[in-house]
Parts: sequence; structure tokens; C-alpha cells
Amino acid sequence: MALPWSSTPEQCQPVAMLQSADHLLSLLLVIGTGGSMPSPQAPPQGCYVAEEAGERTFRCSQAGLSSVPTGIPNDTRKLYLDANQLASVPAGAFQHLPVLEELDLSHNILAHLSGAAFQGLEGTLRHLDLSANQLASVPVGAFVGLQIQVNLSSNPWHCDCALQEVLRQVRLAPGTGTGIVCGPGARPDLVGQEFLPLAGEEELCGAGRGGARRSTDVALLVTMGGWLALVVAYLVHYMWQNREETRRPLKQVPVLPMCSKDPSTLSTAV
Ligand SMILES: *[C@@H]1O[C@H](CO)[C@@H](O)[C@H](O)[C@H]1NC(C)=O
Ligand SMILES: *[C@@H]1O[C@H](CO)[C@@H](O)[C@H](O)[C@H]1NC(C)=O
Repeated sequence: MALPWSSTPEQCQPVAMLQSADHLLSLLLVIGTGGSMPSPQAPPQGCYVAEEAGERTFRCSQAGLSSVPTGIPNDTRKLYLDANQLASVPAGAFQHLPVLEELDLSHNILAHLSGAAFQGLEGTLRHLDLSANQLASVPVGAFVGLQIQVNLSSNPWHCDCALQEVLRQVRLAPGTGTGIVCGPGARPDLVGQEFLPLAGEEELCGAGRGGARRSTDVALLVTMGGWLALVVAYLVHYMWQNREETRRPLKQVPVLPMCSKDPSTLSTAV
């Protein structure tokens, strides 16, 4: 059986039909998406490019996103992905944005960040907002090498050794320290408490290096205290004995003449 387009004269017809079908499909798509035909270059729905204070800005706030969108222009300096449904940030999610300075991921449902989430932003990123998410922890490597001010407020933090280590690597955005509060997954006695004052007075890396060092210090202190007590006890004992010895001749001196003398002197004395 011969195919419709097998003969040379008819070859153009099916192609034209295909093209018109394609056209119809795009027309349907245009109608379906409310007139905004998505193309690889156009920003994702709900997102737009703006020029703010001379800086190329990409805004995707409240756009219903459940993953970091593609198609963000590579000259973006400020990126707003706040108030979406982002649950995680994969490794290298922003590494194609070589001049990104400000990244707002606040008010999402982030519970997990890759340790390499901000990889490639070491030279440029200055401000990172991770506030109002579901973060209980952040991989220790996530902020390494970044020169950022970060907002970590309003997350259910675990308040453990890992968080203590993470906070040693970043500067907090001014006034955001009090917003770091321990969440329900934290040690029961820490839940609801502000983390920074806790971390200041307690070494939370108890099982690690710090804890081992501290128990060694305690052991040393106890040993030294023991020795000191021994020395003091010996000194007291020595002094007591000396006092006994210096007193004894004094006691004995009056006794000896009394014994050697006759009772008459004793009677006169009495
Ligand atoms: C963005 O990509 C284009 C094309 O790949 C490139 O020519 C341009 O230098 C890039 N811009 C930046 C800021 O990297
Ligand atoms: C930090 O995040 C909290 C909660 O989203 C917000 O209220 C506050 O303004 C933020 N502060 C800064 C300095 O970004």
C-alpha cells in the first residue's frame, strides 16, 4: 500500500497540513494560556523582569512555584522567589546567574537545602533571605565561601551543634538574630527558646571535639583540685604536729622541776 506522501507531486501537501495542524495547536495553546504563549525565552508565568535602582531584577513573588523556575535571565542581580511553594533547593540551582547579588527565598515551605544550593555564587551573593520556611537545619557546607548576610528568622530550628557551626560561617542580617528560635524538633528544654543566647552559654557540639576538650579540662581541674587538697591536708597535719611538738617541752618543763622538788615547795606554791 502506497503512503499518501510517497509520490513526488503530493509531497508538499501533507507537510502543509502538518504545519497548519501545528499552527492550530499553537492557536489552541494561546487561547488556553490566556494569550501568553510560553516560549523558552519568556519568563515563567507570574514572573517578570524589572529594573530596580538600576539593577536587573527578576520577580516571581506569589507565583505558585513549586520548584526554582528555569529561564531566569543570566544578568539578574536581584531574584525574588518569595511566597511560593518551594520545598527544596537543589545543588547548583542558581549557578547560571553569575551576577546574582540578592536572593529572596522567604515565605516558602523549604525544609531541605542542598549543601551545594548556592554553589557558584561565592563571588557575588550579598543578601540571602531564608526566613519563614520549614528549615530545621542547613547542611554545614551550604554557606561555606559565601560573603553573605542571611535572614534565618521564623524557621523551626533544631538548635543543635550543626546550627552552631553554620552560624559561625555567616553574618546575620541586622536585627534578625532574635528571630532564630528553636522548633518542635529541638531538645525538649530548648523548644521555643531563642538560639543565640543559648549558643553563647552552651557548647552544643557536646559529642564532638568541643565536648571532648571540655571533659578533659574538667578531669584536669578535678585532678589538680585533688592534689591541692592533699597538699593542704598535709600542711595542716604538719603544722598541727609541729604545734604539738613545740608545746610538749613547754608542758614538760614545769612538770620536771615540780617532780624534782620536794613537796614543801609545792605546798608553798599552793
Ligand atoms: C548571558 O548569556 C549570554 C549568552 O550566552 C552571554 O553572551 C552573556 O555574556 C551572559 N551574561 C552574563 C552576565 O554572564
Ligand atoms: C527577616 O525575616 C523576617 C521574617 O520574614 C522579616 O520580618 C524581617 O523583616 C527580615 N529582616 C531582614 C533584615 O531581612
